[in-house]
Amino acid sequence: FTAEIDAMDIEKGTYPHFMLKEIDEQPFVMRKIIQEYQDEQDNIKLDSNIRQAMMDTDRVYIIAAGTSYHAGLVGKQFIEKIANVPVEVHIASEFSYNMPLLSEKPLFVFISQSGETADSRSVLVRIKELGHPALTITNVPGSTLSREANYTLHLHAGPEIAVASTKAYTAQIAVLAILAVDTAKAKGLDLEFDPLKELGIAASVMESLTDQKEAFEKIAKEYFSETRNAFFIGRGMDYFVVQEAALKLKEISYIQAEGFAGGELKHGTIALIEDGTPVVALSTQENVNYSIRGNVQEVAARGANTCIISLEGLEQESDTFVLPHVHDLLTPLVSVVPMQLLAYYAALHRDCDVDKPRNLAKSVTVE
Ligand code: AGP
Repeated sequence: FTAEIDAMDIEKGTYPHFMLKEIDEQPFVMRKIIQEYQDEQDNIKLDSNIRQAMMDTDRVYIIAAGTSYHAGLVGKQFIEKIANVPVEVHIASEFSYNMPLLSEKPLFVFISQSGETADSRSVLVRIKELGHPALTITNVPGSTLSREANYTLHLHAGPEIAVASTKAYTAQIAVLAILAVDTAKAKGLDLEFDPLKELGIAASVMESLTDQKEAFEKIAKEYFSETRNAFFIGRGMDYFVVQEAALKLKEISYIQAEGFAGGELKHGTIALIEDGTPVVALSTQENVNYSIRGNVQEVAARGANTCIISLEGLEQESDTFVLPHVHDLLTPLVSVVPMQLLAYYAALHRDCDVDKPRNLAKSVTVE
């Protein structure tokens, strides 16, 4: 196991691209995170100052950009549903300082793979001037956002070289789940969700998905080889993941993609659906399973080329792919893997530079 983690060095090894290697490393990273955040009694091991800061706050402000922002959207679900703490998630460059801080004791949580994103850093500088506490969740110990915050939680994902973030995203979700449960336990809330156990199950499911690459290569070829645009639709937790799916596809295959709330399409955007427009739907949430399938029918009736990726237990005969079951809260960890692979194979078939897409940098250190 440790040898596997050490293999996460900065060489591609036998992989054609860093992105594919980093997608494959995600199960190892889950297990590494479990190891790093678990004590000898199999309980969560977390800095007591961070635990106290989470207990003291009356509102968490998550500040992030890009993929890290998408992880923050999932993190909000955890912290609100598990730890019962209100959360706002803000795109770093949109966080305006004159907005009313509706909180007596805010805690700012910066999510950043690189720890160097200028948009996020400028918020941190301002927050420190106002005297508010800050926690940075990052993959780079010693990075600017890590050094300048009061507290740091490390992702332990190993170096992420591909511009398109994959293993850092799932690592961010895992660490946010652990943080939320740690807070809930500290507050004496009763829990039937053991993140360390459930993360182990999710890691195995993620591994089974990375072992089925040819299925996703085939879907990518069918839906994304020729198209100029694409939609990913979902509801609830799936809505947060489809936003990440669209970003992955956009940034490495240059296809204009949108991650959209299934129920919102009919309020205008459905006008863009034409004959053959690819629409990939995620359905992992039981409470909205039928509604999202209704949205798929709406777009199919307008000529869309639809694909449904569902969760075991919710599947229907015509679904393109069925994901093995994981805990309801952790479905983003398994539903994002097909999305990452669809983007990877779409970019490959369009002869794009997968690891170094045009116009992009791995860390955006300018505002
Ligand atoms: C994600 O694939 C992109 N490379 C980009 O959106 C990235 O997530 C964003 O720039 C934030 O970077 P950070 O996590 O290092 O702060």
